Amino acid sequence: MDIKIFKDLNEIGRAAADIMVSHISSHGKTVLGLATGASPLSTYKNLIKDYENGKVSFKSVISFNLDEYCSIPASDKNSYNTFMHRELFDHIDIPEENIHIPDGNPEDPSAFCAQYDEMIKNAGGIDIQLLGIGNNGHIGFNEPSDTFKKGTFIVNLSESTVQANMIYFNSPEEMPRRAVTMGIGSIMQAKEIILLAGGKAKAQAVRDMLKGDITPLCPASILREHPNAHIFLDRNAASLI
Ligand code: PGA
Repeated sequence: MDIKIFKDLNEIGRAAADIMVSHISSHGKTVLGLATGASPLSTYKNLIKDYENGKVSFKSVISFNLDEYCSIPASDKNSYNTFMHRELFDHIDIPEENIHIPDGNPEDPSAFCAQYDEMIKNAGGIDIQLLGIGNNGHIGFNEPSDTFKKGTFIVNLSESTVQANMIYFNSPEEMPRRAVTMGIGSIMQAKEIILLAGGKAKAQAVRDMLKGDITPLCPASILREHPNAHIFLDRNAASLI
């Protein structure tokens, strides 16, 4: 594991964007696994800056997002579809047809989940997967549980996640309680992983991920078994390791 400690999330974002841009520049076609939340924001700002400066084009990039809320439409201001367009896709030249974000309200959930995994496979698998980490050690929306889930699935969000993400909604009742997420198996198949964590609230989860048992009770701990994972932390997130 490549564990690096940075001053803050801005520095982390630069380092993560550098890895992605250099892969795109040297390989052309690149499949990116993308994440939402506060942690990847500075990565996206740097990707946009590099695009605007002519350093990179996203024309041959294919993206798959980790997760999406159920029970709100894709057009909702709090959907991850809206987030990704607002924070990244609307500002770069990625073709709309190359963007994949899970459908939070599929008619046939199990068929949709199987199809999402199949689409990732057909695209050649994920080259670089960006991840945040939840205060409870979740990655994507793989909440602490008694098994590591293989493929994409529908999950009941944990109380900790509901509390952490409620701040984005007008009222607690509006916060969805279910989501569709890539499973741990899908995440672990990515050829390279970059996990980003900043702030004191992540310090215990980071400690559990790096120093505790490898257990589905701390889903991020499985990343220790990944052959090419970068863990980029700011000083606060790294304060307990
Ligand atoms: P955050 O969330 O980036 O908003 O801190 C990360 C996560 O919950 O996975």
